[in-house]
Amino acid sequence: MTTTNAALRPDETGPASADVAAEAARRRTFAVISHPDAGKSTLTEALALHARVIGQAGAVHGKAGRRGTVSDWMDMEKARGISITSAALQFSYRDTVVNLLDTPGHADFSEDTYRVLTAVDAAVMLIDAAKGLEAQTMKLFAVCRHRGIPVVTVVNKWDRPGKDALELMDEVAERTGLTPTPLTWPVGIAGDFRGVLDRRDGSYHRYTRTAGGATVAPEEVLSPAAAAAREPDAWAQAREEVELLDATAGGHDQELFLSGVTTPVLFASAVSNFGVGALLDVLVDLAPAPAGRPDTDGVARPVGAPFSAFVFKVQSGMDAAHRDRLAYIRICSGVFERGMVVTHGPTGRPFATKYAQHVFGRERESIDVAYPGDVVGLVNASALRVGDTLFAGRPVTFPPLTTFAPEHFAVVRSLETAKHKQFRRGIEQLESEGVVQVLRSDRRGEQAPVFAVVGPMQFEVAAHRMEHEFSAPVHLEPLPYTLAMRTDEASVAGITASSGTEVMQRSDGELLALFTTKWVMGVVRNGKPGLTLEPLVAAQLG
Ligand code: G4P
Repeated sequence: MTTTNAALRPDETGPASADVAAEAARRRTFAVISHPDAGKSTLTEALALHARVIGQAGAVHGKAGRRGTVSDWMDMEKARGISITSAALQFSYRDTVVNLLDTPGHADFSEDTYRVLTAVDAAVMLIDAAKGLEAQTMKLFAVCRHRGIPVVTVVNKWDRPGKDALELMDEVAERTGLTPTPLTWPVGIAGDFRGVLDRRDGSYHRYTRTAGGATVAPEEVLSPAAAAAREPDAWAQAREEVELLDATAGGHDQELFLSGVTTPVLFASAVSNFGVGALLDVLVDLAPAPAGRPDTDGVARPVGAPFSAFVFKVQSGMDAAHRDRLAYIRICSGVFERGMVVTHGPTGRPFATKYAQHVFGRERESIDVAYPGDVVGLVNASALRVGDTLFAGRPVTFPPLTTFAPEHFAVVRSLETAKHKQFRRGIEQLESEGVVQVLRSDRRGEQAPVFAVVGPMQFEVAAHRMEHEFSAPVHLEPLPYTLAMRTDEASVAGITASSGTEVMQRSDGELLALFTTKWVMGVVRNGKPGLTLEPLVAAQLG
């Protein structure tokens, strides 16, 4: 889709609009993404620590053995030590307001991660120095390319033995198709991290370790001559490698970065807080500020236009103390003021924003004013569904968020028949949050809908919530299907004539043909070439 920028209408220009544009210009909204265990939670803490949001690293994410737990809200998460929820952390750094959107760590919740990526302007891709590019890293790079999100790559865990830095750059270039343009280069091999050579001015940033990485690591900036005197061997090797880089790979080019051709690279150790300040500086200096979001016609509503936003996540039952439903919106244009009444796009009904909060883990704070790029949690937003548009003034509709092709299916049955009301309400809720897709058919009936998911752990979350949040314990009976394709009414009989198939209707009205295997689908398709069988967007995205 080509995007054109709509002009502001005469009644939309003026000082207020200019103020909003200025606020938008000083915002950076991004997410840290990675294969699980590359250090996402640790880096989030380190970024917050660096921006002085928290006193000591360890207060944001609680894994076993770390201090306090803020983001783990479900017993299951605690038991597994994974973070399923997503929220946003906002902090000031230099003159900028930084919005860091959290993404779930486990690959089974990749659909949630993809939704978060619809709400960011840039992504920070973490790579484990010892492991290089892993399965989820590759998928996430593909999603960023698909969505046109510029990526800053951070090679993490340089304090531990790992791959050779030049080798890692080759791996990125060959496997992602992005040209890496390192901004910093490590001084000291992986496992002996002393500091970085800043390729932009040749200086040496020498890091000093603090106890347990709990506080910001002191940083000393030295001239090349001083660096050579301080670290003769490590500095000489870094210089040599950088000369090689200069000869082969280009330096940073802002346009190529923004258009997704190159990825600036930094080297870091999140656990020791090395390279964290450099990352924040890069985000402030190079990551794009919020720009107008294209509507369904491909026309971008300028950031200075009246308020508009879309829901990228809905969540409820975050903890016992706040049993409510939160819809997270990303503001696209205009100013948000708590209490304002906006229009809910899909229904055209007014929506009062009386309760609006910043939410990060269990920390909640009322929010009064927010600007493009900011994330607001709207409380008790039972009418809002993932993908919905909200606006003030002239209407706008943003394109719906992609739903991914489910790969696992299970019939869900209530274990207590008297609780059919709770059962129905729970299913409706989980579906509107995007926790699962819900399929139905006349054959199976209203009592036996089918949950369809990308990753099987979504089943566990759904079953857990049905029981604990909606008091409707359920039994899930796995179905043998692995593949779903979009079809139409006219094709149903032709598809279901073969065994290993079934057609069901998703709640959005889409008819999905389910197949036990790709092979079965191939047989059906080849046997009756006139059938409608279209692929849904695969979670792998290329
Ligand atoms: P994730 O959110 O991406 O899944 O990763 P997380 O931050 O939880 O980090 C995974 C493991 O890697 C943690 O160890 C963490 O301490 C470690 N780690 C993160 N960054 C670095 C780094 O820069 N250097 C080194 N050496 N380790 C790092 P863990 O043993 O699983 O947990 P914990 O007991 O240390 O909390």
